[in-house]
Amino acid sequence: MVNAVSNDAAGFAPLAAPTLWQSWDAFVHRAPAPARHAADPAWSQTDREDYPSELAVMRTPAMDSVFTAVRRLLLVNRRQQAGARRGLIISGPATTGKTTTMMSLGRSFQLADARQHPGQDGRRPVLFISLPPAATPKMLVSEFARFLGMPVTDRLNQTQITGAVRNLLCELGTQLVLVDDVHLLDTQRRASAETSDQLKYLGDRIPATFVYSAIDIETSSLLSGVRGAQIAGRFKIFRHRPPAYATEQDRGVWNELVRSMEDLLRLRAHRTGTLVKHAAYLHARTGGRIGSRSHLIREAALVAITEGAERITKQLFAEVELDAAAEIQARPALPARQKR
Ligand SMILES: Nc1ncnc2c1ncn2[C@@H]1O[C@H](COP(=O)(O)OP(=O)(O)O)[C@@H](O)[C@H]1O
Ligand SMILES: [Mg+2]
Repeated sequence: MVNAVSNDAAGFAPLAAPTLWQSWDAFVHRAPAPARHAADPAWSQTDREDYPSELAVMRTPAMDSVFTAVRRLLLVNRRQQAGARRGLIISGPATTGKTTTMMSLGRSFQLADARQHPGQDGRRPVLFISLPPAATPKMLVSEFARFLGMPVTDRLNQTQITGAVRNLLCELGTQLVLVDDVHLLDTQRRASAETSDQLKYLGDRIPATFVYSAIDIETSSLLSGVRGAQIAGRFKIFRHRPPAYATEQDRGVWNELVRSMEDLLRLRAHRTGTLVKHAAYLHARTGGRIGSRSHLIREAALVAITEGAERITKQLFAEVELDAAAEIQARPALPARQKR
């Protein structure tokens, strides 16, 4: 049970974060479509155009590290009472793949749990919620309830919902609780501070391992002050940084990521190795951010199909406009003369 995090393929990213059990379960069990040959005549143009936009998720080194860290935490937490358990915060800049990593973690854990308990359909080993903006404590616990399919009526107050959620999670044996976007809690604002207290309360009462994701938690108010100290003392931080391109080893990792993305391409005139040849350019363009890299390659592949060239060139990459963050960081530095 404790070793339920395994090395499954990372699956597909859903179109929206699945915050209901049914959609989460569908995400977990969705089988990747079989890879077709680019020249397969039975592959319609529309389906081929859909193919690059489908979000195939690759195993990244960051994912591997998170999986290992959580596997260890599950072991350490096994014989600890709820309040003494340790958790993990996945922290880093936006669009570096934090949500994707967290969902892959949940997926992998759940598939392993299903293998260990065949035929037990009622199990809910994982809970995944995304923190709504400006969440009140009641909204937070209602998200837990909604995921579990518990009816939440206006007549129920926060304490009642919290009690019911807690009992249900204990009954279902939920072991991994994933909460996305906790940076949205600004503990300097009263409602958010109370919501962070609520999160801590749930962590103390539910015998599960908690994993949060957050944008740059180190600089957020969530870990500061008396309230923050309670979280800081219980959670490890995993820094989810975009891969660098400085050392030989960095370049090896990045090139491997580009290669695995290239393997997914199905273009009729594609020559193997083209993308890896542009690996340095891809890193400079995207700053290593996985979201920008995926977008760049997917859009270029889509244009290659719709416009008929059926291959990706550097020129084509240059034509794809990226998100503002990537474009700003990729702007070439001014020559020294002009800086002065
Ligand atoms: N492992 C991955 N493999 C392929 N694409 C990924 C992967 N992780 C993230 N992406 C892409 O990057 C985008 C941003 O990822 P996301 O997990 O939402 O980042 P964050 O939560 O850090 O903002 C996703 O929409 C997806 O297209
Ligand atoms: Mg996210």
